[in-house]
Amino acid sequence: MAFPPAFLDELNNRNPIEDVVGQYVALTRKGSNLFGLCPFHGEKTASFSVAPDKGIYYCFGCHKGGGVINFIMEIENLGYPDAVRFLAKRAGLEVPEDGADRSQYKKKERLWALCKKAARFFHDQLKAPEADEARDYIVKRGLSRATVTRFGLGFAPNAWSALLDAMTAKGFTKEELYDAGLVLQNREKGTFYDRFRNRLMFPIIDVRGNVIGFGGRVMDDSTPKYLNSPETIIFNKRRNLFAMNIVKKSKQGFIILTEGYMDAIALHQYGFDCAVASLGTSLTQEHADMLSKYTNEVVLTYDGDAAGQNATQRAIPMLEKTGLRVKVLRMQGAKDPDEFLKKYGADRFKLLLEGSENQAEYRLRSLRMKFDLTTDEQKVEFAKQAAELISTYGTAVEREIYGARAAEMAGFSPEVIKLEINKAFKRRVATEKKAQEKRDLEAAAARQPKTREVRYDNMRSAMAEEGVVRMLLREPHLFARAECLTEEEFSVPMFGKIFAAWRERWQEDLCVTPACLTETLTPAEMAHLTAVLQKQDAPLSDDAFDDCVRIITEEHRRAQITNADDLKAMQERLLKKKGYGGT
Ligand code: UTP
Ligand code: MN
Repeated sequence: MAFPPAFLDELNNRNPIEDVVGQYVALTRKGSNLFGLCPFHGEKTASFSVAPDKGIYYCFGCHKGGGVINFIMEIENLGYPDAVRFLAKRAGLEVPEDGADRSQYKKKERLWALCKKAARFFHDQLKAPEADEARDYIVKRGLSRATVTRFGLGFAPNAWSALLDAMTAKGFTKEELYDAGLVLQNREKGTFYDRFRNRLMFPIIDVRGNVIGFGGRVMDDSTPKYLNSPETIIFNKRRNLFAMNIVKKSKQGFIILTEGYMDAIALHQYGFDCAVASLGTSLTQEHADMLSKYTNEVVLTYDGDAAGQNATQRAIPMLEKTGLRVKVLRMQGAKDPDEFLKKYGADRFKLLLEGSENQAEYRLRSLRMKFDLTTDEQKVEFAKQAAELISTYGTAVEREIYGARAAEMAGFSPEVIKLEINKAFKRRVATEKKAQEKRDLEAAAARQPKTREVRYDNMRSAMAEEGVVRMLLREPHLFARAECLTEEEFSVPMFGKIFAAWRERWQEDLCVTPACLTETLTPAEMAHLTAVLQKQDAPLSDDAFDDCVRIITEEHRRAQITNADDLKAMQERLLKKKGYGGT
């Protein structure tokens, strides 16, 4: 939780330290400072001081000290963000983001509660007399009672305000129903009405078990066949997959990715408890990332039609990028898993699964289909594209095998194709390297200090320096492990200054705090320090600290060598020039 420096400044200004401390300690003025009995240790003479001009407090007895935030953290026993909130409240300040975040979270909780109640309502409606058609449809689609319960399927009555009335009666507002995507608004009259009417309802549940949206299917041939909840603050189609809440508990070791709710449900009913479906959109990188958290292998079972094939081709690289193994299932005689299972049963599907085609083979063959290899131009074009495709295969062995296969298909010699593959491979490696460099640069830019006064020129060292500063603040005794480290070795001058200032204090048995740096650092540096101190560190350990110190020393030495090299090179150039000019 990072607070904007401007806000912290305001917070400090609006909470004068003498006022805040004055609420806990009786203070009397002596010169420019105030004194009182230290609230942190028992004492009879006042050694606790407050310096209003510097905004800090300090106890000469127990060496506790810091700024106003530190004081509240200490005396109220609060963590940093809570101390900030405490002081914000005291001064009547709104905590930026935090306020929005919190009310946003409250709102999400309301919408989750609403959707859960709505799912229950739809489910209960299945028992209503008006739900005859829905019950018939369920039977017609072969859905068992257990499946209906397991997926919480339901029925949206054929009425304009069945859900609206039921939910408002439970205390939800029309606006909340609207924000959850459950009702629509009539533009002219401004009235609200149910989005889902006369449909079989599929609740969509996120991995944590919250109902976040719905798919609703018509029970005849009318269109649209499926109506889905719109994107809302709790429903993001790019990030969620249908049935993921069930599949995350599966022991199968792979996940079957289908196109339709009905396919996923049928698979579960036939004993494959590892099937998910995307939500009427194509697979996204977010989906792939999520899948990779729960499994090592994904089986694609998209439709055999052109659209399904395209979707397969697009999904493979996204999944592979995350390290997932990908298999492509090709069904003969049925357009989707639901149909296949009904026609041929679970055993045949299992056989299909076991024999799932290697995707490398599959992709090559799909490419092959696009060309008429009886003409020379097409052969050449196929060879080109095949080389391009095969160059994306992860291992040299795969590239070798499928290179030979492609050569065979086109009637070229394997050597020719191999040459092409190698060229394409090198191109790809180079592009990938460039892309990686760009990503690194962007990542580095994101870690740059927000203030322009402080720059990180050596990101590796700077991160280690941040770590050292954070750890020393928490455990000053770590200074004993950094005796050889010098201020000059720091790549960021402000961290060097902090290190030196704190070490001096530590050697004199004085406290090590941010507030004691008020005079060492510029306000911008101080603000940056505050930001750095809010970042979370790995658990504190001697090893972690030693690592940081080692990196700082290493990077410093490296920089010196580079500089020395530059110098040497420059000298050599100069000498050469001189020699040249001399003769
Ligand atoms: P399908 O048309 O393949 O549906 O669409 P399905 O799952 O096989 O359904 P049944 O067997 O006809 O009942 C696949 C998915 O595309 C989305 C849905 O998520 C559906 O499950 N879709 C389809 C829509 O969102 N809207 C539509 O009108 C159609
Ligand atoms: Mn279907």
